Amino acid sequence: MEHSERNRVNVLRDFQGSFFAMSRLVSFPWTFLEKDLESNKSSDLISDILKQTCLHSLCRKFPPSVRFRRLFLSELIRRQEAADCDPLDELYDALAEVVGAEETAECYKSYLLPSGDAVSLLENVALISEGTTGLVTWEAALYLAEWALAHRQTFAGRTVLELGSGVGLTGITICRSCSPDRYVFSDCHPSVLQKLRNNIQLNSLAEQASPAVSVEDVDWTAATEERLKQIGADTVIAADVVYDPDVVGSLVKLLSKILRCPSPGAPPEVLICSTIRNQETYSGFKQQLEKAGISHHVIPGPVSRVFPYNRVSDIEMIKLYR
Ligand SMILES: C[S@@+](CC[C@H](N)C(=O)[O-])C[C@H]1O[C@@H](n2cnc3c(N)ncnc32)[C@H](O)[C@@H]1O
Repeated sequence: MEHSERNRVNVLRDFQGSFFAMSRLVSFPWTFLEKDLESNKSSDLISDILKQTCLHSLCRKFPPSVRFRRLFLSELIRRQEAADCDPLDELYDALAEVVGAEETAECYKSYLLPSGDAVSLLENVALISEGTTGLVTWEAALYLAEWALAHRQTFAGRTVLELGSGVGLTGITICRSCSPDRYVFSDCHPSVLQKLRNNIQLNSLAEQASPAVSVEDVDWTAATEERLKQIGADTVIAADVVYDPDVVGSLVKLLSKILRCPSPGAPPEVLICSTIRNQETYSGFKQQLEKAGISHHVIPGPVSRVFPYNRVSDIEMIKLYR
């Protein structure tokens, strides 16, 4: 494939991945489109972008929010008009469809996997709603899922317990791509648990023979060693669970129980992936780990980019030991 054609294919893929994950509009490859419009004076690339986004069958099935589609289409129109290219009827038709549509509190986001498959999730539009942060996918979940795709052996054939699963992106990606034997999603918020169950169904995980999947109410403040023994995880993971200084103490106590209660054979492998928004909270977490006799080391980040997210964020993944 010629270099410029390869660029075009990559740009279309970037537009598609960013559109379905509802990434910030500034992160789309607009410069490539701008240059193409300037040099070719044709709307062909815009037409192809439309086919890969608003007119794609995935958008009919799992549409991103009305507001996002409206902003995206308006930006395409603005770019096209600025370059003085032929107007494209389907662009205006697509905009007309969303201009009159009602805004909703929920929307679909789809995260494209390297296999060409997508993980589609029903998420809330607002970052915090119903008193929880668990109804949207956070960057640490995408980071951990990317890491898992590059380290499938950490999950293959294992029983995995995920703490604070939220809407399920990390777990569904691992179930789809890393061949665990059993996957236990968990959280404690009733609406999060309900959405998690719906998303697992949406992605047809429950219908598959393997892995065995369950959703459990595991509250860090209440989970007993007995309960952890029953789950019998040999890999425990969590994304973006270190953010509230008030719950860090109970999380550390739970991690301590997990590391004390090995499944038969080897002690469980414990991986915690965190976005460091507040250095004091994160250092406090590490100090409490140390006090509980838990040491850690930092795991290098994902090597290949799969999902679109803001890579400027400070994200760290650590492995815990007793
Ligand atoms: C910031 S969200 C992260 C969700 C998901 N892991 C992600 O990264 O997208 C934190 C999650 O931890 C859950 N959580 C908070 N406190 C908890 C507790 N005491 N027990 C269990 N889950 C808890 C919340 O319900 C929420 O789903």
